[in-house]
Amino acid sequence: MSAETEDASGGSIVPGLMARMTLEEKIGQLVLFAAGEGPATGEAGGPKLDDLIAAGEVGSVFGTKSFATVQRLQQQALASRLAIPLLFAEDVIHGHRTLFPIPLGLAASFDMGLVEETAAAAAREATAEGIAQAYAPMLDICRDARWGRVAESPGEDPYLAARYAEAMVKGFQGEDLTHPDRLSACLKHFVGYGAAVGGRDYDAAEIAPHTLFDVYCEPFRAGVAAGATAVMAGFNTLNGMPMHAHPLIAHWLRVRAGFDGVLVSDYTALREMTAHGLGGREARTMRALLAGVDLDMISADYLDCLAGLAAEGIEDPETGLEASPAEITAAIEAGCARVLRLKERLGLFADPMRGATAERAAAAPLRPETRALARRAASGAAVLLENDGILPLPEEGLRIALIGPLTHDRPNMLGTWAVAGDPTASVTIFEGMRTAENDVRHAPGAPVVDDPTVIDRLNFVPDTVTPDPRPEPVLLAEAEALAAWADVIVAVVGEAKEHTGECASRAEIDIPAPQRRLIERLQKAGKPIVAVVLAGRPLVLDDLPNAANAILYAFFGGTEMGHGIADLLYGRSEPTARLPVSLPLHTGQVPIHHGAHEGGRPWPGEWRKFTTNYIDLPDDQHPSRGRYPFGAGQGWTHFTFAPPTLAASRIVGSDAVAEIAVEVTNDGDRSGTAVVQLYVSDPVARIARPAQELKGIARLALAPGETGSAQFRLSRDDLAYTITADDGRPERVWDPGEFIIRTGPNATETQSATLHWEP
Ligand code: NOJ
Repeated sequence: MSAETEDASGGSIVPGLMARMTLEEKIGQLVLFAAGEGPATGEAGGPKLDDLIAAGEVGSVFGTKSFATVQRLQQQALASRLAIPLLFAEDVIHGHRTLFPIPLGLAASFDMGLVEETAAAAAREATAEGIAQAYAPMLDICRDARWGRVAESPGEDPYLAARYAEAMVKGFQGEDLTHPDRLSACLKHFVGYGAAVGGRDYDAAEIAPHTLFDVYCEPFRAGVAAGATAVMAGFNTLNGMPMHAHPLIAHWLRVRAGFDGVLVSDYTALREMTAHGLGGREARTMRALLAGVDLDMISADYLDCLAGLAAEGIEDPETGLEASPAEITAAIEAGCARVLRLKERLGLFADPMRGATAERAAAAPLRPETRALARRAASGAAVLLENDGILPLPEEGLRIALIGPLTHDRPNMLGTWAVAGDPTASVTIFEGMRTAENDVRHAPGAPVVDDPTVIDRLNFVPDTVTPDPRPEPVLLAEAEALAAWADVIVAVVGEAKEHTGECASRAEIDIPAPQRRLIERLQKAGKPIVAVVLAGRPLVLDDLPNAANAILYAFFGGTEMGHGIADLLYGRSEPTARLPVSLPLHTGQVPIHHGAHEGGRPWPGEWRKFTTNYIDLPDDQHPSRGRYPFGAGQGWTHFTFAPPTLAASRIVGSDAVAEIAVEVTNDGDRSGTAVVQLYVSDPVARIARPAQELKGIARLALAPGETGSAQFRLSRDDLAYTITADDGRPERVWDPGEFIIRTGPNATETQSATLHWEP
């Protein structure tokens, strides 16, 4: 137990504790280093970490990979003068020891109950080894999937991302943050990081106010409202200002959204402000502190500079920065208080290990019930894009040629950001497919990629790509022979896990060339092809829809991916996932999203030439919608959607609520779940509004022949949006009048009704 537990009155210990702390100890609470046990994206804490902790000069540590390390470092902290426990954080992005589908796949489930369950399970595994904070959920809206971190994001849509944020926060934090199975959620990366110019990681974001607040900030608003206790700032500049110095932290996040938790910097992001052009070490330190960044991850700027700045103040004519010693001291105090309050809320003062023991740590990873959840989640995250009836496959009597470079691969199943995952524990697709009474044989058919430079980059995380030493013609011939033997080909194609993730931007978001050549060759066998696409981003599928009888877009499914995919292909589970991103026809269409405003000359127009389009895309391709739209996905049965019906087509007053119902009939012969989506368009407003916005999702389980009704309610606030007022400030407004209510199975196949809302 740490020296402090509770004050005499039973209230917070923080004020009393702070009264006893030196300035250096307060600064120490703002210092965050890495334990240096995983792959680092820069330099780690360094050899002095233990000494700094013992001196009370480090308050938080991230990236421990074992209970033993947590215990050792926590003991150091408890031996410091005031015995303030450390806060241990980790990148628990989509699972901890047991990996669930990548976040883009979890969002694709359109099932927020499932998302919450995975977060809770990840929290159980992580807390068992002493971790008290997850650097997740990542909430960066991404509409340009050249950006590799789209894999970590909930996709293109703010409504879906907001629901995902709530589910993740609930799953991590639960009702009671002191519970030993719960941990602090850290929303990231505030804000606009996913809008990097050109899809290049760490590049600038330029976002207009209405899009910034209505799209990029919206998931953060929802996550904060759900009670998130931490937020991490983004590496990016936003409209010219690095996020670690951005006034939005104070003005929007703290004031408008009401965030009172801890603001964490990203890795060496303070240091990077010098490269952004915001001045030297003291200037950037000041900027971050005064902007409201509480924890300095890795840079050691707070550690090395804050005491001096608090003594002297700063007056820097070159950057225009001015702050008195009193202002600086007050900012240090405020940050320290926020960090200590979080530690208190987590119960760290009462029990610095939060119930973690060596036994609990040993028993927690990969428990059968967690694996069962991972299996369900891997099925729940895979989107069935095409099926001419070949799926589901029978469970016996079939010869299956399972072809593709990752059919029997363990590390890649986990996806990117699997920092604590054990690749040897993952189930391959080959193993999964062999759980039926079929004759399943596999061959690689092609390398994942054949460019040695790309292979080298993908192998930043070891064992991502292990090239088959045999030349391509030999691999192709082997695959062709297997295809000739088989009744059906299951072709597993797509990306390797490190094709996406941090600093994994691609200029061309396609299926890599050797695998496209493989598909071409397999077509010649004349056998039905079921394509399973592994991907960390929306990919351009090129000719695959013509070549394949069925396409399952599986993302990276995690530890149990092989079982989860086999459960779908054999029809043991139903595909209920839907695309959380538009799949473009061509890379040149990005940025792309279902709500893109189409300008004053929308496609197709009467005369194609002078409308918004590309001269080199087919005439029937909508220029700003994908080959497969947002929300698309099939199941095993067929649903008929009736048009939306409104309880009242004319409603009055700002407190009114619009009630909308959609009848859906299962007219197939299997039970199934319809995923009903509600979009709204605002055709007349003060500014040009998005073509449509997602405002509701409902899942309806229907027996064969059954008709059910999905119910939605919209308040005035759901239809509000941001404008820039004449004085330049963002203002949230609502216009009465006409709204088009669109409902259906995806973003394009909708039917509509008109709602009139009077003031
Ligand atoms: C950098 C990443 O941007 C961030 O998401 C992550 O949490 C930190 N590194 C720590 O690993």
